[in-house]
Amino acid sequence: MSAIQKSVSTADTISAAEFSAAESVLAAIQSVQVEGAKKPDLQSMANPSSDAVGYVHGVSQTEQSRLLEQGELLRPVVYSAEIAKILESHSSRVVELGSGSGTNMVYVLSQYVGIRRYTAVDFNQDAYRGQLEKTFQNELSSKRLSLEQADIQQPCAEHLKGEAGTVFFTWVLEHLKEPKKGIQYAADCLQPGGCLIGFECDWHVAGIVTSDAQLNQQYAGFVQSFCAKQQGSGNPHYGQCFEQDVRESGLFTEIQSQKIQLESSMQFANMLLNILSGALLESKEEIEAYRQKLLDVFVSTHVEVTRIVAKK
Ligand SMILES: C[S@@+](CC[C@H](N)C(=O)[O-])C[C@H]1O[C@@H](n2cnc3c(N)ncnc32)[C@H](O)[C@@H]1O
Repeated sequence: MSAIQKSVSTADTISAAEFSAAESVLAAIQSVQVEGAKKPDLQSMANPSSDAVGYVHGVSQTEQSRLLEQGELLRPVVYSAEIAKILESHSSRVVELGSGSGTNMVYVLSQYVGIRRYTAVDFNQDAYRGQLEKTFQNELSSKRLSLEQADIQQPCAEHLKGEAGTVFFTWVLEHLKEPKKGIQYAADCLQPGGCLIGFECDWHVAGIVTSDAQLNQQYAGFVQSFCAKQQGSGNPHYGQCFEQDVRESGLFTEIQSQKIQLESSMQFANMLLNILSGALLESKEEIEAYRQKLLDVFVSTHVEVTRIVAKK
């Protein structure tokens, strides 16, 4: 079953024309990547040999707001009943990796009162700190929350080793040149029996389908440019490698991997365009022009994320 077939199977109705448009836009995204200079080779992308060129999205105020909006939109996807159960049961100590502008913290700290200590680790923490200190004044002064600046591709800090009942991250390993080191970091933070919860995306399956073939090609071009840009310091298709990396690490048991198809909506189309627009500053105006045209010809979105839940 193709990705499109899987995702449309959850939609209410879809016409043959929509189905065929969806198939062709995915094929367009996949073919430009395969034909392009940055051909996706899953093994080498998991360990790209080029030098890191930095975090593709940057840490501007606009990006910080984008992350908060995106977090809110994806909340029903991330916080399913299953994840809620884990956070409620054995998570008095949580370590979040790549915590960014705090979208998970806002939700988790208010929802799960049983969490006594939450450590938010981010490579760019000093850039996020000002805003986070305002938002989380009480949690920081009570020491329920601490903000750590650290690169999760480096060895885990001694004081975090074995600290957490749960290690949690959303959309982070895809930004690492060496994601296996991030997995090692996660395992090092966990107590024996602790639980890893991670979400990663895959731009191979991040389509916007319209009834206009030219717009479909244009969107595929944005995705191609974005993937080429992220490639140097990460892997835009990491959702495809995530399960394999966790399994091969040999650090976890009871590994459950799930592909989650996001429902088709204009909101998700806008989310995808915001991601592209933030990273492809040189194409920002083109993306905005595309967004305007999209309103009249939008058919569907096809977005798939990978969720891993595993025990140490
Ligand atoms: C796409 S953002 C996701 C932020 C947050 N998890 C969310 O869902 O809103 C990726 C985050 O990973 C962080 N990051 C990237 N490389 C990192 C590294 N090597 N070590 C720690 N954090 C890193 C970035 O600074 C950024 O905050």
